Parts: sequence; structure tokens; C-alpha cells
Amino acid sequence: MRFIAVGDLRPGMKLGRKIINRKHTSMLEKGVELNERLILRLKHNGYLGAYIADAFSDEVELEETVSEQVIEDGIDAVAEANIGSIINIAATLVEDISKLDNISVDMLDLRSFDDYTYHHSVNVAVYSVAVATRMGLPEEQIQEIAVAALCHDLGKSLIDPDIINKKDRLTDEEFAEIKRHPKYSYDMLYNNPMISPAVRQAVICHHENENGSGYPFGKLGDEIPFYAKIIHAVDVYDALTSRRPYKEPYAPVDALEYMIGGVNILFDAKVVETMQSVIPAYPPGMDVGLSNGEKGVVIAHTSQALRPRIKIYETGKEVDLSTDLRYRMVFIIASGILMQESAEGVEKLNEDRGTKKEGPKEIVVVDDSAISLGQTKAALEDDYHIITLESGLACLNYVKTKGVPDLLIMDIDMPVMDGMTTVEKLRQKQYKDLNVVFLTAIANKDTVIRCNQAGATDYILKPVNPIYLRERVKIALDKNLDR
Ligand SMILES: [Fe+2]
Ligand SMILES: [Fe+2]
Repeated sequence: MRFIAVGDLRPGMKLGRKIINRKHTSMLEKGVELNERLILRLKHNGYLGAYIADAFSDEVELEETVSEQVIEDGIDAVAEANIGSIINIAATLVEDISKLDNISVDMLDLRSFDDYTYHHSVNVAVYSVAVATRMGLPEEQIQEIAVAALCHDLGKSLIDPDIINKKDRLTDEEFAEIKRHPKYSYDMLYNNPMISPAVRQAVICHHENENGSGYPFGKLGDEIPFYAKIIHAVDVYDALTSRRPYKEPYAPVDALEYMIGGVNILFDAKVVETMQSVIPAYPPGMDVGLSNGEKGVVIAHTSQALRPRIKIYETGKEVDLSTDLRYRMVFIIASGILMQESAEGVEKLNEDRGTKKEGPKEIVVVDDSAISLGQTKAALEDDYHIITLESGLACLNYVKTKGVPDLLIMDIDMPVMDGMTTVEKLRQKQYKDLNVVFLTAIANKDTVIRCNQAGATDYILKPVNPIYLRERVKIALDKNLDR
């Protein structure tokens, strides 16, 4: 059984696992053969892909963390906001996960954006219980965490779905409304005698960040209830790895990398550490690409999270990356559902790079706003080789595979990983000669100090003035220039 991205599903493939959906819609049972119509439906409903049974990956076994039935019932209980059922489901989750010898949340198939909030809430509950159990918390506490996790986004049902699913950037007002959902969830639970104050506190604090930048209260580290810290971290992880109308999903390994980058800034260190031990970077059934050009499917975990056992497509051979000496210098360079697309992107970049050495200098522009990216690119593309990226994570991946560009132009204010964090992470990874110009919409003392601390060559105000930008870029690139 292996996990095939929805874009790579073909008629005739047989499901290796049931596809779970709300009860009122029809579900696809294990063994069902896919046809064009079914594939279209999966695409339309926002599934990442599906587990397919085939002879090649016969030996891949998925550790079922919790049964499909519990997940289905959980989705229904959350959709109906039925607190009694939610409490029962929570108890089952806790019991099922406590029985596992080795907790590993391997499931990749539980995501669709039609029912996103419900699926998501159940996923968050599974991850939360896995983390809390691995941490050795008392069972009553794990039960409360499970209930809070299932209820954390109930308040989203009070928000206009058009705002929740909006593809474009949210207006300030829309964003403010989204930020009210923890309070809405809290209010929905308030008068319910089955819900403890600790559960309500966890629910209302599930978007608080360690550094005080979260909402609704802006609580700092110690002020945030521990239940909420667990739910917050796994909540972000699940959102990152899901396809949403406005974003493509991250592979687990990249999402985990993001979590590590957010330690003590957004997330509790102990929680993120525990997450790494219960959420595999390369779950069984996932496709991977290796640095020697081979491709394969992960067939099992090993003691090393980043070096699983895989089966190579070309040869059918099994390789344990954690022990096989012939592979000790071989690394996984691509994984997951977007491997096809990203692999193509890398190939294209390689072609482009043929001319790079004698050619124009390379500038990587990172900005979450497509308009702003376009403006920066337009201002510079006549003189430089411009690569545009839309997130800090994309930038980290770029530098990891392609090396440090001549110049990085980095937007500070980005939603997932901001420009400062991205630069900090690059510096932590020992990338020297990092030449960074920040773009910022805010010109205050704080920003300036932060830019300086981050070792920025320069900072430029947005919206950019093309002439000013070209001039400053010239100066930044030519460091010998006396300025
Ligand atoms: Fe939320
Ligand atoms: Fe959430």
C-alpha cells in the first residue's frame, strides 16, 4: 500500500484503505477500483491523495493509530457539536492510543477541505492525545486534552464559510473575525456542565504563542495553559500539512522543520520535541526521492527519524537508510504529495543555472504577496537572475538545495514563517555570506533594530520604489562600495 497524490491517481488503481467522509455522503471502501469520476470527486473535495494497494508496496503496513470507525464518529460528533458524543469519542481515542506499544501517527489520508474543520479537529485530537500520552500525563488530563482538541474550532461554525475558505488575502476585518473563533468556541461550551474550566481555558488559548504574539490575549509562555500549548502546536502542524483553498500542503518533514523553527517563539519546546517522536517525518507508504536520483516508497520506520527503510522503484530493492553503508552518503531530498511538482521545479532551476556562473547575479526574492513579488521582480529582472519564492520555508529549501544566492530580498511580514525567522534559521544552519535586504511595510525603531540584529545589509520600505530598489540592490551586491 502506498500513498498516491490526488493528481497522480489513475483509473484502475485499487484503494488500500477506506476513504472516510461524513456519514451522509457516500464513502469509498477499501478495495474499490478508482475511475475518472471517483478521482474527480476526490480532487474536488480537496483530498491530498489516497492509499493504493499494489504489489510493489505490498509490505507497507500502516499502523492504525485509531480505527476508521472512531475517526468517522469523531467527525460526526464535531460536525453536530454534540458534546456528549465528543466526550465519548475522546475517551475511546485515549483508550486506543494508550494501548499502542509504539505511538506513531502515520495516517496521511484524513484531509479534505469540504469537511476541513471536522476532519481537522479529529486529527488535532489524535495528535494531541499521542503527544500527551507520550509525555506520560495522567489519563484524566489526556481525556480533557482530547475533549478540548475536538472542541477547539467549534466556534468556526459561527463564521461565514466564505471568509474561512477565502483564497485571496483576508481584509483586516475578515482577519479580526477569524481571530474571534477561540472565544466563540469558548462561549459555545460555557454553560455546559460536562465541560471543565480547564477544557474551556485550553480552547480559548489555542492560538496563543510563546512569545506573546498570539491571540486572543497575547499571553506569554508560562501564562499559557499546558493543554493549550499541546493543542496549539499540533493544530498548526495539521494546518500546514493540509491542502486548503489558499495553500498547498507541506510534506510532514517540512512541517516538522517549521515546528522546530518555531520553538520558544510560537511553540513550547517540550511539545515540539515530543511531536517529533510521535509524528514520522517520512510515514510508511510515502514516496521519496533520493540524492542519488533514485525514487522509492517508505516501507517502515527505523530508529532514525530521517532515515527510514525504503523500497527503490527502479530496482525493487529494499534499503535501510539508517544502516545501509552503500547509502550512507545518500539523503532524501524530496518527499510526499508534492514531490512530482517540486522535482520538476528543481529540474527547471538546474537548467536555468547552466548560465549562472558568468551570467547575471542571482537574487532570491521571498514575499507572500504575489503582487509585491511581481513588483520587485519587474524592477530587477533586466539586470539580475531573479527567483521568486512565496514563503520562508520555500526559501530554506531553496538555499538547502541550491546554496546561498548573491542576495536575498526578504519580506519581513509573512504569515507562516516571517522573514526574520527565516534569516535566523539560515544563520543557525551555518550559511555564511548571507546578504539580506529586508522589505518592510512598517518603518519604526523596533523594526530597524531587529533588522540590524538580524545582520541585514539593508531594509527597504514597501511598496517599493523601483529606482530606489535598484540602487539599493546595487549597493548591497557590491559590498566593496564605500557607503
Ligand atoms: Fe483555531
Ligand atoms: Fe484548529
